[in-house]
Amino acid sequence: MIQLSNMTKRFADKIAVNDISLYIHPGVVTGFLGPNGAGKTTTMRVILGLAAPTSGSVSVNGKPYGSLERPLSKIGATIDSSAIDTRLTPRQHLSILATAAGINKNRVDELLSLVGLQKVSDKKIGEFSLGMKQRISIAGALIGNPETIMMDEPFNGLDVEGIHWLRTLLRDLAKQGKAVLISSHLLSEIQEIADRIIVLVRGKLIADMSMSEMQEKSFRSYVQVQSNNISELKRILAENGAQVYMPESGILHVRKMTARRIGDIAFTNGIRIYELVNYQPSLEQLFSEMVDGKTDYKGLNLNQDKGATKK
Ligand SMILES: Nc1ncnc2c1ncn2[C@@H]1O[C@H](COP(=O)(O)OP(=O)(O)OP(=O)(O)O)[C@@H](O)[C@H]1O
Ligand SMILES: [Mg+2]
Repeated sequence: MIQLSNMTKRFADKIAVNDISLYIHPGVVTGFLGPNGAGKTTTMRVILGLAAPTSGSVSVNGKPYGSLERPLSKIGATIDSSAIDTRLTPRQHLSILATAAGINKNRVDELLSLVGLQKVSDKKIGEFSLGMKQRISIAGALIGNPETIMMDEPFNGLDVEGIHWLRTLLRDLAKQGKAVLISSHLLSEIQEIADRIIVLVRGKLIADMSMSEMQEKSFRSYVQVQSNNISELKRILAENGAQVYMPESGILHVRKMTARRIGDIAFTNGIRIYELVNYQPSLEQLFSEMVDGKTDYKGLNLNQDKGATKK
């Protein structure tokens, strides 16, 4: 269980991460999003104790990473696949990790097969493609069967088949109850698998919510209605709690009410509906609005919500 409280990380005069508080939920995949330079890698490095926070605190199961017993069973992380010694073979690399962590060597074969590298397990890593190196880092991260998996841009360098494979793997890990945190600068990469998203922009936490909340709570979702008696319909819908707006004569934009309920209310009141269209922004649209700072999602910050949200 990872918890960040008012964590700030400063490099000389640069604030890389600015006063963020987070809880990484178990049993779900959390997408850690933000444009280049937002502070994602820095946050992950601080969680792993590779960099000290300037202020605030970070804990893993209530303790700093450095004071954990058997840390590889708590968090497995891939931060930088170029850190792997390319003179080794995947089997040697994983065996060294296993020995260092006091883990049975049988785990090495299990992992080689899990990441699909059995056939090349005795080739030098130096000859591998970026995608194959990613798979080795992923195997390394999983060596201690950790409760939390944290990966920095794991889709980089993977081909279509690799992306599909990794998505399935991450989903399975979350299903086993593990907390999975995946960074990316592209919502499209993680949209299909993330249950929650956290968005950082210039070191600030802009959003922390479930995917469905992101869409539902958008002020951009509305139902467009045309009818034979628009002014009467407008009055009745407002009376029933909808937010109604007439952008041009003859057309209503209705928020806070479903299309179905609008149709039922119109029917009950003998009003004809000519058009009933649901408008919902794509997640990509919402995400770019957040990054541009046009939409304020701070009101939706759900740090206090400690319960896991499953799809
Ligand atoms: N060791 C360091 N020394 C000085 N500045 C640093 C250091 N590490 C990161 N920074 C700065 O902190 C900010 C956040 O960087 P970070 O690498 O965490 O962003 P990121 O979200 O991971 O970006 P990307 O998507 O490009 O990987 C950047 O402005 C970066 O230049
Ligand atoms: Mg980064």
